[in-house]
Amino acid sequence: MQTYAFLLGTHPILSLAELMSFLDNQKIAHGKLVLFDSIAIIDIKKVPEEIAKLQNELGGIIKIFAITNQFSGKIFEIEKILTPEILLKDFFVQKSKKINFGISVYSDPDPTYAELNWLTNFAHGIKKKLKDEYSIRYVEDRGWHLSSVQVERNRLIDTGAEIALIRNGPDFYLGKTLTVQDYRSYSQRDWDKPSPDAKSGMLPPKLAQMMINLTRDKKTKAVYDPFCGSGIVLQEAMMLGLKIYGSDISSEAVENTINNLEWLSKLKKISAGKINLRIKEADATKNDWKILDTSATVIVAEPYLGPPLRMTPFAPQAQTILKELSQLYLGFFKNLKRNFPHVQKVGMVFPVIRSRDGLKYLNILDEVAATGYTRKVILPPEVTKKDAGVSPRGGFLYSRPDQLVLREIFVFERK
Ligand SMILES: C[S@@+](CC[C@H](N)C(=O)[O-])C[C@H]1O[C@@H](n2cnc3c(N)ncnc32)[C@H](O)[C@@H]1O
Repeated sequence: MQTYAFLLGTHPILSLAELMSFLDNQKIAHGKLVLFDSIAIIDIKKVPEEIAKLQNELGGIIKIFAITNQFSGKIFEIEKILTPEILLKDFFVQKSKKINFGISVYSDPDPTYAELNWLTNFAHGIKKKLKDEYSIRYVEDRGWHLSSVQVERNRLIDTGAEIALIRNGPDFYLGKTLTVQDYRSYSQRDWDKPSPDAKSGMLPPKLAQMMINLTRDKKTKAVYDPFCGSGIVLQEAMMLGLKIYGSDISSEAVENTINNLEWLSKLKKISAGKINLRIKEADATKNDWKILDTSATVIVAEPYLGPPLRMTPFAPQAQTILKELSQLYLGFFKNLKRNFPHVQKVGMVFPVIRSRDGLKYLNILDEVAATGYTRKVILPPEVTKKDAGVSPRGGFLYSRPDQLVLREIFVFERK
């Protein structure tokens, strides 16, 4: 086993759920998890090259580090470990005489001013020792860690290294960054598609990818989104190499989805076959689609989340909206039971409304359970309890601070 650290995204508990589901579902052998701040440390039975390949499949992971050393004590000990010889042998592995490097600190508790000062001097010391033989540059930031953009723009991974110093109380983990998230590709998938749907609201591609990873397993071949909107879930499923099927009650949404998927398959050179034959107009509370009714299909969807809200509603108004939405969601589950009895897993967004009287939830979980779909427990309760990113009933919350309609994410299973 080799130790890796994962920097979790803006919704850390959801990112962690994605990571653990991915490892379990893909049957990747791993050890116990050490979790603190936005860092997850875990032993995995895979070599760094294999782990680096996972980066593009994990929407919730910002950076992946390979841990080379662990010690307990004071920060100054790294001087003994990171000698110029070790740096040249294990960190700056490129063959050229040009080296760009940086140091990022992820620490709980925060590093002191004296520690940061010492680190800066240490980095300049390395530069000094190697400068006669190499053209060496130290990339610094006023903060304690470099962003993925800085790592990428300065080409630290292929022309030097981002050294990661991770601290949890007295324990230090020292390593180097293997990969950072491809922020350009996500932003292109988010903003450049030809037929966006600003009206229904757009699911962030990273969230769509996380939902697919929470829901799929090793035998999953296809993703079906019966509320496909502008096709973001399907777009991400296609990027993950899965077969895609979609439907929507609106003909405009069907057209948008087809346009967007055809655009992406050309852009990324993915041969997706005749996309238009796999996207159709249908009501998710009534339709059936025989070829999809197998355990190799998973459903991942963000149904209608209600009307856009301009002002924080009073609690009764929020309850009225949610009551109306319940019909649609329950109608979908009843139809699923009737027409897709072999589909076992469903990843879904539920709306949560921020009312003047606190958050209001879609109260249909008991009725959904009565139709035979029970919620999957993804992370152990000792990890999720008291986490602000988890609702009192165990759903993962996803929102921006100013949003009046939040997303609550569940995975349901039919036993
Ligand atoms: C929030 S949008 C989905 C956004 C989509 N996840 C995306 O990424 O673009 C909800 C969609 O549900 C569709 N919808 C509403 N009621 C429906 C129903 N009964 N059956 C199928 N689709 C429905 C709407 O037309 C809309 O496109």
